[in-house]
Amino acid sequence: MQSGAKSVLFVGDLSYADRYEYNDVGVRWDTWGRFVEQSAAYQPWIWSAGNHEIEYFPNMGEVVPFKSFLYRYPTPYQVSRSSNPLWYAIRRASSHIIVLSSYSPFVKYTPQWHWLKQELKNVNREKTPWLIVLMHVPIYNSNEAHFMEGESMRSVFERWFIKHRVDVIFAGHVHAYERSYRISNIHYNVSGGDAYPVPDKTAPIYITVGDGGNQEGLASRFRDPQPDYSAFREASYGHSTLEIKNRTHAIYHWNRNDDGIKVTTDSFTLHNQYWGSARRRRKLNKNHLHSVISERPSTARF
Ligand SMILES: [Fe+2]
Repeated sequence: MQSGAKSVLFVGDLSYADRYEYNDVGVRWDTWGRFVEQSAAYQPWIWSAGNHEIEYFPNMGEVVPFKSFLYRYPTPYQVSRSSNPLWYAIRRASSHIIVLSSYSPFVKYTPQWHWLKQELKNVNREKTPWLIVLMHVPIYNSNEAHFMEGESMRSVFERWFIKHRVDVIFAGHVHAYERSYRISNIHYNVSGGDAYPVPDKTAPIYITVGDGGNQEGLASRFRDPQPDYSAFREASYGHSTLEIKNRTHAIYHWNRNDDGIKVTTDSFTLHNQYWGSARRRRKLNKNHLHSVISERPSTARF
C-alpha cells in the first residue's frame, strides 16, 4: 500500500467474494473496496480479471459472469477500441499496457483475438517505449498449482508477443513468485519441431507474481527439477516493482514481504526489447546527439 508507486498493475483475483453466498457476496466486495481504497484513491490501479471475479452462481440465480467486477471496477476499454471491459489497453507514462482476459474467448477470430492483433499494431514505441502485458493465468509456470493452464493462450498469442517485442508479461493466479528467462516455444507444433522452450532474445520475460496475499495460502509445491526456463522461484508473499529509467533501461525488483517488511529478493535490469537492438540504439544515439547540438546556445558556437 505504501510502495510509492505511480501506478499499480493488478493481475486479478480481487476480493474473493465468490467464497460467500447471497448478500454476503456484495458485503465482501464492499469491505475489500474500503481496504484497497487506502491505495487506490491515490494512484491508478490497472485492473485485470481473475477466476475469482467470474462469480458464476447458477444455484443463486446469477448466471452473468463477472457482473460484480464489471459494475464495481470499470475500465477505459472503449478508448482502445475494445468491445469488452475485460480486455483493453492504456498508455501510462512511457509504457503501453495491454490487459488480456484469461477467461474470455481468445482463439482465432474471437473478439479478443481480433482486438489484440490490431492493438499490437497500434503501439508506438517512439511515444511509449515500453510494452507490458497483463494476464491472470501465467503462460510459463513451474508450480504444481495451475500447471499448464496458460498453455492454450500461449499457443495463440506467444508468436505475437515475440513479433511485437513485448518487454515483460505479468501474471497472477499462482500464489507464488516466479520469473522466466527470455525463452520461447514458438517452434513447437504437433507435427514436429522443438517440443520445449528454447532461449530466445526476442521473447518477453514472464513474471508470475500471484503472491500478493489471499485466502487460499501460498502455492508452495514447485515442480522438481526446476525447468531450464525458470530463472527464480519462491513461494513467499511479496510484490514486484518496476522503475522505468529511460527508453532503454528499467530496474525490476521482487520484494518479499512475508515478515511484514519489504526485502528485495530478486532483481535485474530490464533492457527494452525494441530500443535494445543495435540498429535502433544507433538511431537513438544519433538523435540524442542532434538534440544536444540543437539545444546549445548560439553564443557557444565556434
Ligand atoms: Fe486465480
